Amino acid sequence: MNNFELKNPTKIIFGKDTIAQIKNEIPQDAKVLLLYGGGSIKKNGIYDQVKTALANVEVVEFGGIPANPEYAVLMDALKVIKDEKISYLLAVGGGSVIDGTKFLSAAALFEGDTPWDILTENIKTEKGMPFGTVLTLPATGSEMNSGAVITRKETKEKLAMGGPGLFPEFSVLDPQVIASIPERQLANGLTDAFTHVLEQYMTYPIGALLQDRFAESILQTIIEVAPKVIKDPTDYEATSNFMWSCTMALNGLIQKGVPGDWAVHAIGHELTALFGIDHARTLAVIAPSHYKFNFEDKKEKLAQYGERVWNISEGSIDDKAYAAIEKTEAFFHELGIDTKLSDYTKDYDGTAEEIAKRFTDRGWLGLGEHQTLSPDKVEKIVKMAY
Ligand code: NZQ
Ligand code: ZN
Repeated sequence: MNNFELKNPTKIIFGKDTIAQIKNEIPQDAKVLLLYGGGSIKKNGIYDQVKTALANVEVVEFGGIPANPEYAVLMDALKVIKDEKISYLLAVGGGSVIDGTKFLSAAALFEGDTPWDILTENIKTEKGMPFGTVLTLPATGSEMNSGAVITRKETKEKLAMGGPGLFPEFSVLDPQVIASIPERQLANGLTDAFTHVLEQYMTYPIGALLQDRFAESILQTIIEVAPKVIKDPTDYEATSNFMWSCTMALNGLIQKGVPGDWAVHAIGHELTALFGIDHARTLAVIAPSHYKFNFEDKKEKLAQYGERVWNISEGSIDDKAYAAIEKTEAFFHELGIDTKLSDYTKDYDGTAEEIAKRFTDRGWLGLGEHQTLSPDKVEKIVKMAY
């Protein structure tokens, strides 16, 4: 097992009817900016619950943060923060609203002229404006981690940021919010969380027995609850397990002491930036090709995953590893998620070369757990995914 440090300061408030508790978490003298997305919270009752809980605090609102949070929109919100002298941020939404809020938390205290530099210069935020979240869509784990991904339409870029100052102070997770999520977003959430576990697990054996079993148990739980969540998003037992699995998949716990890959995400973000494909769907497009391309490096863990998660007991290591990739792809298909780029766009010609060029320009010359996945290999993987 590798050496590691673990510190996660986010307080989780989990369960039925917990949104009211935000009033105990936000300082009474705070001036709060309530941030939300395209308006789903106004239709499903979450907005009303939040407003009731904030009745005794001064609140300004900023809605309209789009899926794949857009830099230009966030810059409008930053102006509100400065003009209104906001002291506390409250994100009410999915990964996009929470990530947008993390960017604002960093940008509000940023001393440079251009907040976009936080992303391009990979500036780690040590201290941000304090914020909390009310999660409305289980998927990203953003509610209990310190990372964010921000999109800039103008340049077709989608870049990650983060730092120890960007953990939410608290996050409210009431699984009842899942009832109003459309099936497409439920499938996205299941796929995203599943792939988060794979990114931290599908590398090479390092003797981290507990981390492996944490990871496998999250995968098994997602597989078990997925059909129930899709069939009936008011099934509390299924949705509460779905929600907690998504948080546990990316709150730092399972990645401690083990190598990480994250190439699927790095490549997937480019597909969202170029074509606007939902984040989770880009992962389902890239993961099978990535695991086939890097088969020799990953086959021991692929076979272990096949045995323990998919109960594949027949054949050699190679057989089990290959069958595990097929099972993964079939799982995405069962969720209604297509796994080829050509399923999403007809304009895919040249995409592999474009992504390889972008990675070269950014100096991303060696991705993956061995830091050997060079842009020419990335190009091959993307072509396999056409
Ligand atoms: O905008 P509104 O009206 O709220 O509607 C949203 C949006 O259209 C809707 N929705 C959310 N909760 C709902 C609901 N509709 C009905 N009922 C509810 N309770 O769902 C749509 C998608 O929301 P979004 O927040 O975009 O989805 P998700 O949570 O999947 O977030 C995706 C973003 O997170 C980033 C992705 O790249 C993408 O930009 N990621 C963030 C990560 C992190 N911070 O750790 C890690 C991930 O790998 C990922 O990259
Ligand atoms: Zn993801």
